[in-house]
Amino acid sequence: MTTATTRLADYRPYPFQIPNIELDVVVEEQHIAISSSMQIEPALTTKVPLVLQGLNLELDSIVINGSSVPTDAYSLSSSELVLHQPPIHPFELKIICRIDPFNNTSLEGLYSSESMLTSQCEAEGFRRICFHPDRPDVLSRYRVRIEADRTRYPVLLSNGNLVSKGSLAKDPMRHEAIWDDPYPKPAYLFALVAGALQEVQAHFKTTSGRSVLLRLHVENGDETYTSHALDSLKKAMAWDEKVYGLEYDLDEYNIVAVRHFNMGAMENKSLNIFNSKLVLADSECATDGELERIESVVAHEYFHNWTGNRITCRDWFQLSLKEGLTVFRDQSFTADLHSKAVKRIEDVSMLRNTQFREDSGPTSHPVKPSEYKAIDNFYTTTIYEKGAELIRMLHTLLGQQRFMAGMALYVQRFDGTAATTEDFIHSIAEGACANGEQLGFDLDQFQRWYHQSGTPQVCVKRHWDSQGGTLTLEVSQFTPPTPGQPSKAPLVIPMALAVIGPNGRIGEEKLVVLDQDTQSVSLRDLPRQAKPPALSIFRRFSAPITLQMDVSVDESLQLLALDDDPVARWEAGQRLWRKILLARARKQADKPLEERLALALNQLITSGGESDPSFLAMLFGMPGLAELEAAQDVADPLMLYQVYQSLKSWLGVKLSDPLKNLLERSRLNWGAQWPAGQGERMLTGLTWSWLAAAGDCEVRKEAVEAVNGPSMSLARAALRALQPIECTERDEALKSFYERWQDRPVILDTWFALEASTPRSDGLERIKQLLDHPRFDPMAPNSIRAVLGGFASNPPVFHAIDGSGYKFMAEQLIAIDQRNPITASRMVKVFSRWQTYAPSRKEAMHRAIDQLASAELSANTREVVTLMQPKH
Ligand code: BES
Ligand code: ZN
Repeated sequence: MTTATTRLADYRPYPFQIPNIELDVVVEEQHIAISSSMQIEPALTTKVPLVLQGLNLELDSIVINGSSVPTDAYSLSSSELVLHQPPIHPFELKIICRIDPFNNTSLEGLYSSESMLTSQCEAEGFRRICFHPDRPDVLSRYRVRIEADRTRYPVLLSNGNLVSKGSLAKDPMRHEAIWDDPYPKPAYLFALVAGALQEVQAHFKTTSGRSVLLRLHVENGDETYTSHALDSLKKAMAWDEKVYGLEYDLDEYNIVAVRHFNMGAMENKSLNIFNSKLVLADSECATDGELERIESVVAHEYFHNWTGNRITCRDWFQLSLKEGLTVFRDQSFTADLHSKAVKRIEDVSMLRNTQFREDSGPTSHPVKPSEYKAIDNFYTTTIYEKGAELIRMLHTLLGQQRFMAGMALYVQRFDGTAATTEDFIHSIAEGACANGEQLGFDLDQFQRWYHQSGTPQVCVKRHWDSQGGTLTLEVSQFTPPTPGQPSKAPLVIPMALAVIGPNGRIGEEKLVVLDQDTQSVSLRDLPRQAKPPALSIFRRFSAPITLQMDVSVDESLQLLALDDDPVARWEAGQRLWRKILLARARKQADKPLEERLALALNQLITSGGESDPSFLAMLFGMPGLAELEAAQDVADPLMLYQVYQSLKSWLGVKLSDPLKNLLERSRLNWGAQWPAGQGERMLTGLTWSWLAAAGDCEVRKEAVEAVNGPSMSLARAALRALQPIECTERDEALKSFYERWQDRPVILDTWFALEASTPRSDGLERIKQLLDHPRFDPMAPNSIRAVLGGFASNPPVFHAIDGSGYKFMAEQLIAIDQRNPITASRMVKVFSRWQTYAPSRKEAMHRAIDQLASAELSANTREVVTLMQPKH
């Protein structure tokens, strides 16, 4: 089967407008009957056929202006309904069809999850509900009537305002609800939920004084875990008013928690649908990290109400218009509410270990791709996180005030429309220059960031004139070739610089705009000393690039101690960690450097000068596996895995006393309620893991106890510390975690993930047992990701040299692809690095990819597998 390619260059406006849609949804025992009435207005005077999408729909009837349409006036394929000669004047098209949500395992369109019926339409799920153009530039007002059995489905929800609800006169066992959404929206924002749900309410008062009813719908028994999500929603609403001047625009806001969900959460207009793991939480059953994640996802979906819903995307090539911008907004929100420094470090680290990895492999693509086969494959870290970095660079280049002026213009100009990334960029530039200022960089050149894939490398060579006190930087940029893009043009790269002396920063920070292949930058009037001052470069990680610059250990240590930009300070530490870990991986441990880093860490602990424990924990965090693999000539995940352990163990011995000291101090804040105490809990996890690796038995005991304690953060930290160590405490801890949480599927998924990622000699057997476990739900993407994702991050088992891990993974993915292509095609990327491994491993992985390629695959998974196969 070959699937058509969709190209940006082929975009044409839809030749019809559909200002109004009425949906009538009748839920029966075995199926749902959908009747859609669309008011259709031809936009052109020339006659064109009316093309509607439809997937797995059983067509009943087609009626135009009250008259039945004869069968020879249309054609129907497995994916399209074409009316050959629709009226040239506005008309009403009524189509009745049937769907079967009860056997829909794809989790797209309408499907059942536990006792509930729920929908997921982004990106192209609406076509699984009824015949419709199903493209984001067709905006309509929706009025929806839902009818269902009142005991099985007491709650009936859709977008907008509830118009009426009540029993049916003809059948008192059934009831109906009518919803009306006054805001025109694309079909991907349509949502419908029916089920026996419990509701928890809250209220929010907007700046302009309107009261908004917030309703969170969960399954029976989950009501007690809703307050965190509701509080988060209120914070997000207040923040968007304060920072962006954007208010909520309806009288109610609904969130529904669903167990079976492909993604994290979905921003349907006034009816968000969330993966239940991103709603249900308190500090006993969620970690600090999870609480922060939930807060940010709730905010993200809320922020979409403006950046995504009120202003939507013209087509799916514009996806980053809403996702990159909304990620930038949720990142700023979290930074404002918590620590700017820590949030930025977390985001940079995530970018490096996911986006940079994607951008250097076979699935690399631009933030604005020019073609795709399955759009679901493009909800990637590049669209999201790199997209957010592009917005952040604009913000850096323009400054807060001018950026906000641009945002205001964008909202004013495009509210109620389907826009493009160019619309956005031009609004930002125009708004920022409204008072006649110069932009300060070339806008067209900046836009190359959207079209060029790959991570740019910036190479800096330094010349120090000690007599003149001038530091000259020879800066060149180079973006390596990526699939389909052999050569690249220079980009606009904001480079924030400062010079650090023995007493901290010297002079002001400087923002340099790089825009040439090579250019030279001079920093003048510096202290005239023999040695050049330390250079703090790409402060705040001012551009998503990799830096190539010779930095001595002395300079890194100086920056680690004295840089006033916390991100650059962390980066200096990361450079040392990388050096140490990579040297160990080459079996050439750099002992003197290790001693010096240990000394610096010791000072950080004992000086007590670091007031934010979360930031201290960042400095102690080692670089991720993906970024180390990328730095190796031949990626060796197994070796790196051992190296992490051996270094932790060495540090655990070396720093045993200061670590115990730190543990004592941290303990004092164990009980503090999130967000308080989270830094101390992070540091506790770190010390546990280093000390446990060093063989400290007391710590192991303490860790086992924590698994039964009142804090999920500490319980998980304990499990993580014990996980790499073959010991009875580890088995004991995993067992008691299971026993405690076996009745809570969301939490049990963590147990599945932990079990699957625990290195054991019989590792693959264990994975098979987990997949057969009575509490494993093969229909829940969360569970699949827990076990198979855990498996993929278990180097000794997944990367077993005989290829057994790869083969088993391929078999599983082929099976999953049959029922859920979206989940399968996302997971299949576990094979994307195969070309970076040593020959034997590489061949084994290649065989697994061939195994996949020769199977019957969905269009989604086929697209990814084809990209991963070697090109001939
Ligand atoms: N619009 C997406 C959800 C989505 C993506 C639905 C792809 C269908 C297909 C939503 O706004 C989103 O981005 N969710 C993220 C979480 C977010 C905090 C980055 C997700 O689901 O992972
Ligand atoms: Zn989003």
